[in-house]
Amino acid sequence: MSGPRKRRPSLLAVEDRSRNDSSATSASAPKVVKGSSEVARCDPSSEGYGEMTEGSIERLLTFLKTITTKTLAVPLPKSAQPEDGLSVRASPSGLSFAPEADSSWNLTRSSSFIDIGSGYGKVVLHAKLSARVRSAAGIEYVTSRAVMASETKEELTSGQHSFLTHEARTLLKTGCRLELGDATKYGKFNFSHVYMYDKVFSERTIALLAKQLNQSPYRVLVSYQRVEVWRRLGLRNIAEAAALTMRTTGGQNFKAYIYINTRSP
Ligand SMILES: C[S@@+](CC[C@H](N)C(=O)[O-])C[C@H]1O[C@@H](n2cnc3c(N)ncnc32)[C@H](O)[C@@H]1O
Repeated sequence: MSGPRKRRPSLLAVEDRSRNDSSATSASAPKVVKGSSEVARCDPSSEGYGEMTEGSIERLLTFLKTITTKTLAVPLPKSAQPEDGLSVRASPSGLSFAPEADSSWNLTRSSSFIDIGSGYGKVVLHAKLSARVRSAAGIEYVTSRAVMASETKEELTSGQHSFLTHEARTLLKTGCRLELGDATKYGKFNFSHVYMYDKVFSERTIALLAKQLNQSPYRVLVSYQRVEVWRRLGLRNIAEAAALTMRTTGGQNFKAYIYINTRSP
């Protein structure tokens, strides 16, 4: 008689291999950008999240690929926050509308994608392999996670896994980077699509990210924070296009909101 089968850990499984924050010394070490591990140590909220299932991420990416056709039968209300800082929702009577649907909203092979707070890099690798975006990046400030993300990418590109085709390995080798650093000190996000699983981000972090996003030429933002939160914390020129229910591996459901940057590029 055999007992319960042991689960083989997925290659991309979230499992902290290195309990300590090891320093990035190996060939697969992530590029270090300013302000990294010291911030992580003083942010207790960064532990203890459930990751999104691969199915949910794939569904989100599929949605983003066809965002204009799926969501824009009805024009989007333009950013309801007046630039003087008053935070109000647009009243149905006084709607002004965002510009015409723009094909740059769709996630395509010429898009650039960043996961802010990329953890073990799963979403970044998924975006590169599934949506085949021109570039996929992640920034993570917990050293052990950023290192593991880089090691995973190295392992996948090394050729030791027969389930990855040569083409997939080439995709990962080009235009896929996982960085170690504090996203609140990143500066302008030069990406068309910005993703963040920001449920546990502090208001301070969100406010700092909002400041940077206001300077950034992004087209689409995916966040788990409601529009009211973003506006209150300073993000301007966004309109909510859709909300998708995402499922975590722990069985919880969260709403991912898809926002359009209504400011012209
Ligand atoms: C909920 S996890 C999401 C991981 C990954 N994006 C995913 O979806 O699987 C959030 C991650 O954001 C990281 N994080 C939080 N604030 C950050 C910051 N200011 N800069 C970089 N990473 C940050 C945390 O360390 C954590 O790994």
